[in-house]
This record gives sequence, structure tokens and C-alpha cells, in this order.
Amino acid sequence: MHVKRKQLIYSIVLVGFGISFGLMLYYGVKTFQVDEVSTAGQASYDVHIALIMEEEGNEYWHFIEQGAKQQARHYSLYLDDIGPKKSDPEEKLLMIDRMIRANVDGIITQGIQGSRFKELVSKAVENGVPIVTIDTDVPSSERASYVGTDNYQAGVLAGETLIADTTGKKFVGAVIGKFDALNQQERLQGFKDAIAEVERIELVEVVESNITEIGATQATYTLLKRNPKVNVLIGTSALDGIGIVQGIEEMNLRMGHYILAFDTLPRTLELIEQEKIDATIVQHPFEMGKLAVQQMMKLQNGEQVKTKEFTDTGVIRKQDVHQGQMTSTGDLP
Ligand code: BGC
Repeated sequence: MHVKRKQLIYSIVLVGFGISFGLMLYYGVKTFQVDEVSTAGQASYDVHIALIMEEEGNEYWHFIEQGAKQQARHYSLYLDDIGPKKSDPEEKLLMIDRMIRANVDGIITQGIQGSRFKELVSKAVENGVPIVTIDTDVPSSERASYVGTDNYQAGVLAGETLIADTTGKKFVGAVIGKFDALNQQERLQGFKDAIAEVERIELVEVVESNITEIGATQATYTLLKRNPKVNVLIGTSALDGIGIVQGIEEMNLRMGHYILAFDTLPRTLELIEQEKIDATIVQHPFEMGKLAVQQMMKLQNGEQVKTKEFTDTGVIRKQDVHQGQMTSTGDLP
């Protein structure tokens, strides 16, 4: 009796073991097969490009990403689109370094102020990794090409727009994305140069928004508290105009400020139609993404590229927007 029970237990254990072993083999092989397929999938990409954005989840950068992805599909290349959660130059520099060490075939990145960026670009070039700057340039680096707005000229255009659209004494408060962002500095310089000779227009103060809407709202609050005579507000990065309107509404000010924004995000267009934003400077982020990948492909094929590939800029006002859509890009001839 005792021996029989032992035999039964042994048989159960043995059958159990047999089943588990069988399952292990079956799923092991399956896993292996899946691995094989995915590796084969990746191997079909000959070129691996990294796109390093100012921040993830930013609507403006989303358009750049879309343009780049469209071209990546067109050329069948592998595109890694990455960026810090919130704009952070240090984190972006680390990402560039990581991509160079990962030995990607090329890097498209926003230009960053400071010597570390230039050192990394040189390191990339030494390692045979070409760099294309996008949206913000660092011409003194060894980057092969820049694709994006002529930021200084865009600032000049903002100044000229203000001159054309207004009369009488104007005190300007500027909300810029970041003090340390080169494109913001260039836009501001262009704006200052454009209004320099016009006595009735005076730039009173410049505050930064940290490229967030809430930051622009707070910046507007600060600006208007400190300078109640300010009657013009200009925002030089994509969410600044939206934040400025919010700030003015929260302060319950109905002084008919003239507001000049940057970019054509859907909410900016809405505010233009509602006559809360007077004009906005047009950039073409989708086009930038597309062109940057095209430049990179030329570099991969050993072709010559232009060192600067400016995308168009323009200005649009209420008459150029209908039901949330731009009816003109306001491009300059
Ligand atoms: C600028 C970008 C910036 C974005 C922020 C755009 O106007 O060109 O550099 O990241 O605004 O929302």
C-alpha cells in the first residue's frame, strides 16, 4: 500500500515535470522565433538617424517630428525621435553624446548655446556622424547644415509688423521663451534693430516664459504689474502668445493691448480669429522636419549640402484665418 502510494506520487511529479518541460520548450522556441523576426526587421534599416527635440510633447516640435517621420518613411530609414520631458539643455547635451556613442549615422538636433555643444559636434564629426541643426543654429560649430527659420530676420519682421500695425506711443513688453536660447536671442535682436529708429516704440522689459503657457501667463502678469504703461506684448516662442492672452484675461485688463505672437498652433489661430491676438509670425516646422531629413540623406550619400537652408517666414492676421485654418501663409515674396 505504502509502496503503491509512493509510486503514484512519483508518477504525478513526473507527468507534471514532463508537461512543464514541454511548455518551456514550446514557448522558448516561440520567443526565440519572435526575437529573430524583430531583429530581422531592424536589420532592414540601413540608416539610423536621431532627431533631438527641445522637449517632448511640445506641439511645435510635434510638427517637426511629423515632417521628419514622413521623410524617414519615404527613405526607409530608422528615426529615433527623442527629447527631454521639459526643455533642459543639459539633458539634450547628454542625449547627443549618447547618440554619438551609439554610433548612429547622423544627428538632427536643435542648436544649443555654449562650448559643450560645439565640442560634441566636433566629436560627432570625428566619429563620422554628421550633424544637422534644426530650428536653432550654431554656425560656429562644425555642423554640416542648418534647417529652419532665419531667426534674426523673423525678429525684424516682428518689429516691422508692429510698426506697420500701430500708431502713437507704444511701450513694449517682450515675453521670450528662454534667455539662453540662441533663436530667442536672435529674434529679440532682430526686433530691437527694427524698432531702433522708431521713437514712438520703446521696449520696456523682457521676461522669459520657459517655453510654457503658464510661464508666459506669469511673465505677462509680472510685466504688467511692473510696467502698467505697457500697451504692446510680443511673444517670441510658440506658446507665449497664448499665455499672454491668458495673463491679460486673468488680470481683467481690457486696455486693447496690441499682441504679436509667434507660430501658428491651432489655439493661436483661434485667438487671432477672436481678435485677441493681432498678428503672428509664421514658421514652418513640418517643412523643417522634412528638409532636415532630406539634408541628412544627402550627407549620407556623400552629396554637397547648403550650410543654411532657411524655411519661409511670414506674418498673418485675422483676414488670413478662416474657421481655424490659415488661408494664407503670409510668406514674404
Ligand atoms: C521656437 C522653438 C521653441 C518653441 C517652443 C518656437 O517658436 O522656434 O525653438 O522650442 O517655440 O514652444
